[in-house]
Amino acid sequence: MTDRKKELGQFFTARDIASVMVKWVTKNKPGTLLDPAAGYGVFLSTAKQMSPESAQTAYEIDSSIAPALRNDSGARVINCDYLTDFFAEKYDAIVCNPPYNRFQNVKNRKAYIKSFADKYGVKLSGYTNHCVYFLIKSIFELSAGGRCCYIMPYEFLNNGYGAAVKQLLCSLKVVHSIAKIDSELSLFDDAITTSCLVFIENKPHDGIRFINICSKDELNALDADSRPVADEPHYLPYSEIDPDIKWNAYFSGEESYGEDNNGLMAPFGSFCRVSRGIATGCNSFFALNAAQAESLGLSPEVCVPCIAKSPDVTVPVFTDEAFEKLRLAGKKVFLFDGTGARLDSDLEYIRTGEEQGADKTYLTSHRDPWYAPEKRPPAPIWISVFSRDKIKIVRNEAGVKNLTTFHGIYFKDDTSEDDINILFCYLLTPVAQELLRKNRREYGDGLDKFEPGDLNNAFVLNPKHIDMLRRRQILNIYKEIKNNSDTDNYIRRLNDLFLEIICSERLTVKSAV
Ligand SMILES: C[S@@+](CC[C@H](N)C(=O)[O-])C[C@H]1O[C@@H](n2cnc3c(N)ncnc32)[C@H](O)[C@@H]1O
Repeated sequence: MTDRKKELGQFFTARDIASVMVKWVTKNKPGTLLDPAAGYGVFLSTAKQMSPESAQTAYEIDSSIAPALRNDSGARVINCDYLTDFFAEKYDAIVCNPPYNRFQNVKNRKAYIKSFADKYGVKLSGYTNHCVYFLIKSIFELSAGGRCCYIMPYEFLNNGYGAAVKQLLCSLKVVHSIAKIDSELSLFDDAITTSCLVFIENKPHDGIRFINICSKDELNALDADSRPVADEPHYLPYSEIDPDIKWNAYFSGEESYGEDNNGLMAPFGSFCRVSRGIATGCNSFFALNAAQAESLGLSPEVCVPCIAKSPDVTVPVFTDEAFEKLRLAGKKVFLFDGTGARLDSDLEYIRTGEEQGADKTYLTSHRDPWYAPEKRPPAPIWISVFSRDKIKIVRNEAGVKNLTTFHGIYFKDDTSEDDINILFCYLLTPVAQELLRKNRREYGDGLDKFEPGDLNNAFVLNPKHIDMLRRRQILNIYKEIKNNSDTDNYIRRLNDLFLEIICSERLTVKSAV
């Protein structure tokens, strides 16, 4: 991505998401429709189909895009900075994917802060993300009863800079629903961010629906208009919504949100990220064992160590030795990555795949080139996607990749190995698994499944909140688990330790209240 594209926040919206958003804003056949950051006009063309009678206005700051947009859309295209163009004009519908730029990259932020305070009486912090200015301005440009839908980075609901806009939204009571889109659905190719859709209607509402979207099907079926049920766990009346806390609490459906024990328990997604494994689109072509790789004469560059099946992993700590055992046992432990092809035999294998139709499955035919699997780095911890009584947790010390049989837990760069090992120890315990299971999907016959979004919303213990003495005790047990085949006894000890930590933290918090 060029610096200019980055500066202007040029991530473009896929048509299926545009449809969900435009459907909401055009429900009442608006006379006028605005896109404040139009790009190539995906919202405008979608709105033209869904609501041809709406007169369209679009802002686009980039003069290399604006003329084409003007030609293609037939909208009134204004080629300037939306945030500085103040008219008294109101719109019946506003739909927008604004630029997401952190405050350092918002060049005119001092001027914006001043004009927003003068015009709207909103005091914004200097750390405000670009998109928040867009959202606020649009709220003030909605006509009475008008509808607006924005794609926003989910972080604005949880970061300090979002407080001012949340206060505004709560005082006006204009938010109808907010749908959190699991980061797995990756709405934008180059942006690794969790997004949310904010559905606004310019009339007072009783409460907000907090919706979790975990799959493409859920996204496509999303109808923010379906009636909120008062006792639905994710519907909250405005009287119970606190604009000053992190709103991720409201998406979980948990009652105590973990905030009552000093942040010791927090949603997975607040300090690490659970992502699904690599989906090849054709495991029979991409997953290979050592004998196949050898007989095909493949170079090491195209054979990436990778676990294809969860039952192959029978130890909680997966080391280089464990990998070697699987390799010698003939398990499929290599992922073919054709981008590393350098020998004729590598290219020959790609040709064989094409003859056999490996390039024609849904995933491979949508990938360029088809033989390049996703580039997900190895995850330090794996969680099995399907489970029965115990959820399989594996510490991946071998740095091996994984297919979709496991979800991977990824950590922020500054997370220490000790913190990773402590979280792993915690996840092995019955106390942790019981809490995780609250977010499971039951498939009948005792079979449970987790989607990454289910886990990202589940509460776990944040290792950073554990004192030094207990950290040492846990890490000693970790070493034992790594070196012993019978781990039950160690897991019992860990369970006692973690229960003690959780209970003592609760007592401390209670006595401080
Ligand atoms: C995230 S893209 C979205 C484009 C399009 N609406 C879509 O969803 O595909 C944001 C667009 O806003 C434009 N933009 C950035 N800053 C702007 C500003 N201050 N005023 C108007 N447009 C702006 C960018 O050039 C970019 O095309």
